[in-house]
Amino acid sequence: MTLDDINYPDKPNDLEAFWMPFTANKGYKQKPRLMTRAKGMHYYTPGGQEILDGTAGLWCCNAGHGHEKIVAAIKAQAERMDFAPTFQLGHPAAFEFANRLVDLAPGDLDHVFFTNSGSESADTALKIALGYHYVRGKGSKTRLIGRERGYHGTNFGGTSVGGIVKNRMFYGSLLSGTDHIRHTHDLEHQAFSRGEPEWGAHLADDLERLAALHDPSTIAAVIVEPVAGSTGVLVPPKGYLRRLREICDRHDILLIFDEVITGFGRLGAGFAADYFDVQPDILTTAKALTNATVPMGAVFCSNKIYDAFIENTEQGIELFHGYTYSGHPLASAAGIATLDVYREEGLFERAAELAPYWEDALWSLKGGHHVIDLRNLGIVAGIELEPRPGAPTARATETFHKCFDEGVLIRVTADTIALSPPLIVEKSQIDRIFDTIGSVLKTVA
Ligand SMILES: Cc1ncc(COP(=O)(O)O)c(C=O)c1O
Repeated sequence: MTLDDINYPDKPNDLEAFWMPFTANKGYKQKPRLMTRAKGMHYYTPGGQEILDGTAGLWCCNAGHGHEKIVAAIKAQAERMDFAPTFQLGHPAAFEFANRLVDLAPGDLDHVFFTNSGSESADTALKIALGYHYVRGKGSKTRLIGRERGYHGTNFGGTSVGGIVKNRMFYGSLLSGTDHIRHTHDLEHQAFSRGEPEWGAHLADDLERLAALHDPSTIAAVIVEPVAGSTGVLVPPKGYLRRLREICDRHDILLIFDEVITGFGRLGAGFAADYFDVQPDILTTAKALTNATVPMGAVFCSNKIYDAFIENTEQGIELFHGYTYSGHPLASAAGIATLDVYREEGLFERAAELAPYWEDALWSLKGGHHVIDLRNLGIVAGIELEPRPGAPTARATETFHKCFDEGVLIRVTADTIALSPPLIVEKSQIDRIFDTIGSVLKTVA
């Protein structure tokens, strides 16, 4: 098989049929930016321009692109067995991958439910939380709590506990019985904090407000991203997550960490739960789980949750939930190889070592054009721009386009630039990312 065997053209001649996700379709299709190849730290356009990847795709290719070991594992698995169901049947790759994952997971998260995406992981976690209380005879605990500005994907459960207005406003009343604690972003008290802001641990107490309002006997779970990514890189205040844990414990509320972007080394530790030393009851992942080569998500559950289902079901299926592709052989093989690569190349440790350099490079933008805040943790950075008067998001979008044309892929969300390169990034490439952003910002009105 060579590149010539690929059965589609490098430049599609019609862009209309593909309704692109989270995309300004009209604008994009007038001036499309295409990528056709990827290797290591780079994408390549059809014309051969090299684009330095400052975002690991979409926070997902932590080991860089086209890793030979992962590609080889997918090829070998496709030849050996393309698909096998995991409903009342099984295949070794899924079991092996689950075993490897729970060895890596923090604390007693010893069981894994496989999904196909971060969105499915969020909805699966919420359903498991509801079922957990139900099988223990606490069926009144049905309320699901999210956080303002939270992002848990785009399915109905995740959208309902999510807190990004545009993601919610078109879709009616969503799930009933959800509520939201307030978000942690406060420029007045936190702007230009290096790492975790000192101010704001008390914001976790907002969960006490909801517990008092609804009564804890009606609340099943609270779900948060330890570091909120899609809403513009919000690093939790020091002590905030621990306080949330304590409140959950007090009221028999399950704590779910959505680690779809923080999992697998992004903060310089296996998971954010390790980094912050706070143990959730359920932890959701996707993206870097397979280095994004084959779509997959995984929901980690503590022993008490798994055991409650197993022990409280006399016979037959314990959890009426699953996907045709739960534990798909190609994804499982890709995931096993990905974990090997993370370990053999020491990528989580590498991220921890690089983090101070990354932070200093980010801080070179302090005082830069339009910059009203800088935020960072591990190999994540957020650069908040002053919105253009009367045209929110326009300044960031223009910056995104110009950086791409200059050969650097960044991501923007509202007026924040969010950066998360593969963990193989070199120091010279870090410099290039921030130098390009700095010089592009000078040209943006
Ligand atoms: C924290 C978080 N949860 C869930 C998701 C949804 O993942 P997916 O797009 O794979 O459904 C994302 C995607 O960016 C995410 O950042």
